[in-house]
Amino acid sequence: MTDKVLEVKNLTVHFYTYAGVVKAIENVSFDVYRGETFALVGETGCGKSVTARALTQLIESPGRIVEGEVYYHKNGESVDLLKLEEEEIRKYRGKEIAYIFQDPQSSLDPLYSVGFQVSEALYAHNKVKSIKEGIRKAVDILRTVLMPDPEKRVSNYPHELSGGMKQRVTIGIGISNDPKILIADEPTTALDVTVQAQILNLIKEMKRKYGATVLLITHDMGVVADMADRVAVMYAGKIVELADVFSIFKEPIHPYTEGLLKAVPNPLIKIERLETIPGTVPSLINPPSGCRFNPRCPLASQICRAKIPELEEVKNGHYVACHNR
Ligand SMILES: Nc1ncnc2c1ncn2[C@@H]1O[C@H](COP(=O)(O)OP(=O)(O)OP(=O)(O)O)[C@@H](O)[C@H]1O
Ligand SMILES: [Mg+2]
Repeated sequence: MTDKVLEVKNLTVHFYTYAGVVKAIENVSFDVYRGETFALVGETGCGKSVTARALTQLIESPGRIVEGEVYYHKNGESVDLLKLEEEEIRKYRGKEIAYIFQDPQSSLDPLYSVGFQVSEALYAHNKVKSIKEGIRKAVDILRTVLMPDPEKRVSNYPHELSGGMKQRVTIGIGISNDPKILIADEPTTALDVTVQAQILNLIKEMKRKYGATVLLITHDMGVVADMADRVAVMYAGKIVELADVFSIFKEPIHPYTEGLLKAVPNPLIKIERLETIPGTVPSLINPPSGCRFNPRCPLASQICRAKIPELEEVKNGHYVACHNR
């Protein structure tokens, strides 16, 4: 697996707020291989969504991408998505890289039928010649995402659908243009457990069918175990460990990853908060010096407070940023 579809280098995003500069993510680097499911995992506020949104310049004011490159590789060519003007990057969003967000409610427009919204996505990327033709195609797309009774549902408005059905629609919109990369940001957090399993299976199925690459964002290690090929663990705006899913679960190296796993005795149980690691995620306005995890780390020593650990490869494909590895 050396066929990279995405190469993220030193991605750094700051938010310029009245309280100060929030250093939301700092020097985040990772590669995503074609066809894999790559998971970004970590506690709330660690920078998962900011990372995902920055990939296609979806950072709004007061945020700014202050540094970094995001190479998108296709047919032997590569383009730095962060160098593109708004008009150019729009051609990539949705068509090459599509998003599914946590809350389907907010990604659907309450004023339009779901058929219209699927159709609009198709029309925007010239997949259909008219909205009318798109609505006919929308029925097929709703069928693909296993929406019950798609002929009828196509003319429903979002408020007439359950949470799971709404998420099926947003997945339908996501896959409507056969994107090469599907970014799913906590796609099941707002859903109950049975529907969550159905939606995750649907994402797997879509991936199998269309061969898309999936970037999956979650704080749920159970979902990671179920879905991911490789995993990047984020803490306070930085990647602290990156490896294939088996190594992450079997041989975690970073004390934070260990804590994250200890906090989930049963991977099927979802957690919002770490019970076994004392302390909380630090402010990103004045993050701790050195390793950002040092105030909570059982192994912290002088060097951890003084020097930022680099993400280094310690075994084949297993990267960790820790002075104590
Ligand atoms: N619009 C904004 N203004 C100021 N700070 C922001 C803004 N958006 C995000 N941040 C900050 O950036 C950091 C990373 O946020 P992000 O949304 O990426 O976290 P996350 O890992 O996705 O968390 P969650 O699991 O809760 O979704 C947080 O400290 C957050 O407060
Ligand atoms: Mg998020």
